[in-house]
Amino acid sequence: MGTPLIKTLEMLKKSSPVSFHTPGHKSGKAFESLGDGGLRENLYPYDTTEIFATDQLQNPSGVLKESQQWTAKVFKSSEAYYLINGSSGGVLSMILSQTKPGDEVLLSRDVHQSVIHALILGDLTPRFISQEIDPLYKIPMGITAKNVKEGLLKYPNCKGVLVTHPNYYGRASELLEIRNLTRSRRQILWVDQAHGAHLGLHPQLPLSGIDAGADLTVMSFHKTLPAMTQCGVLFVSGGLVDRDRLQEQLNIHQSSSPSYILMASIEQGTRHYLEAGREKMKVLLRGIDQFEQRFQQLKLFQLDACPGKDRTKLWIRTENSGLAGGEVETRLRENHGIIMELSMPQGVLALTSIGNGEKDLEKLYLAFEELEETLYNKIKMEKFPEKTSMEVFVSPGENAGDNAGEKDSLALPIRTAFYRPKERVSINKSINRVAGSTLTPYPPGIPLILPGERITGQLISRLSAYQQSGHQVSGIKEGKIMVVTEE
Ligand SMILES: Cc1ncc(COP(=O)(O)O)c(C=O)c1O
Repeated sequence: MGTPLIKTLEMLKKSSPVSFHTPGHKSGKAFESLGDGGLRENLYPYDTTEIFATDQLQNPSGVLKESQQWTAKVFKSSEAYYLINGSSGGVLSMILSQTKPGDEVLLSRDVHQSVIHALILGDLTPRFISQEIDPLYKIPMGITAKNVKEGLLKYPNCKGVLVTHPNYYGRASELLEIRNLTRSRRQILWVDQAHGAHLGLHPQLPLSGIDAGADLTVMSFHKTLPAMTQCGVLFVSGGLVDRDRLQEQLNIHQSSSPSYILMASIEQGTRHYLEAGREKMKVLLRGIDQFEQRFQQLKLFQLDACPGKDRTKLWIRTENSGLAGGEVETRLRENHGIIMELSMPQGVLALTSIGNGEKDLEKLYLAFEELEETLYNKIKMEKFPEKTSMEVFVSPGENAGDNAGEKDSLALPIRTAFYRPKERVSINKSINRVAGSTLTPYPPGIPLILPGERITGQLISRLSAYQQSGHQVSGIKEGKIMVVTEE
């Protein structure tokens, strides 16, 4: 009965599935060809703490300072701060350090939960900008300069603009143009590049926040580079950022006992980025070229190949197949030993990295080909239906259409609602009540409902669509959710 976690991890290790999900080291396979400096074999001897030789992360002046400076140089940034609880800690720190309670922040509604947590903690007012949804692939298309310009016209006093780039599905935002808008107004540009630590590795990939001149760019090394889960780096440049307040916030949101294993793994990620990353990315993108070409032969599945997107994210539309993304995900796992990053009713996402080899992509393509053949034989139809009748939802960002940018989009300020007396009520009795907590389907970790938002029938049907498609929704307990107690 003991050690259930270790047993599960051993089972996964033994079955050795093909990984199309994070972490980017792909169960350590990336290190087979790239080398790992012995880290993979000898973890415990490296697990030290802040002693005479190892510096202090909260006030670095020795080896950690040197290591962070090296990472900054490799990524062509002026400063780098190591993150040992992922981009989440970086997002909290980068927002809270550059704002004061009451400040307004311009952002889209489909931000990660860590951004919402920063709004709650910092008593910040979100000003939502609208974003187009791709009508075919049913995913948010990224933030354009026009979106931001309209938002800034409406809310000129925003302290800054936060952009998720690329988004979970790989769609990019117009960073350079957005940077020009914020720079001319001396507003901060925060780039949540959790999914894009690899962007600088190839000119075909979207521009990195660092290269676009963003003030603060946060990256999860663990998602797309060969680094362990929780490894991230916050990059800073330019004269607008208050570094002292940034270090203070990092000290608040990170452990005072930072893991040397994780920090060594960040350094390994940097080393691979520098020494092998460009070559490996070239090979990966060549493999993706072939994958994209072959995929065009399929009729039931479509691969998003929108120009300018991050092509390492393979978003595959499943609507024409009559199968929800979740069913496709299950078949890939059970019949082909392939684990995907994410599924939604309208599609599935394979997250590739420089740790994936050509054979992985071959296996993924063949799995879809076989699935199509099986379905084709089963349906025995000459023409495939254009659309299935399944209910499709886009992402929590869809809510932006309902209430984005409106002053009264929140019935109560986000922090006020969070700290008001709250009670749990069953979901179907919650209509018209004010939410007291976030409700967040995982993945993608984007809150569907924010504290302070009024719960509508539409939100509830989206919530149940997520649940029906097998997503865990954090914030729901025994069918009940937190709402603000009515006075
Ligand atoms: C857009 C975005 N930002 C931030 C994060 C937080 O990253 P981490 O898991 O490294 O804390 C995530 C995690 O999925 C994310 O998707």
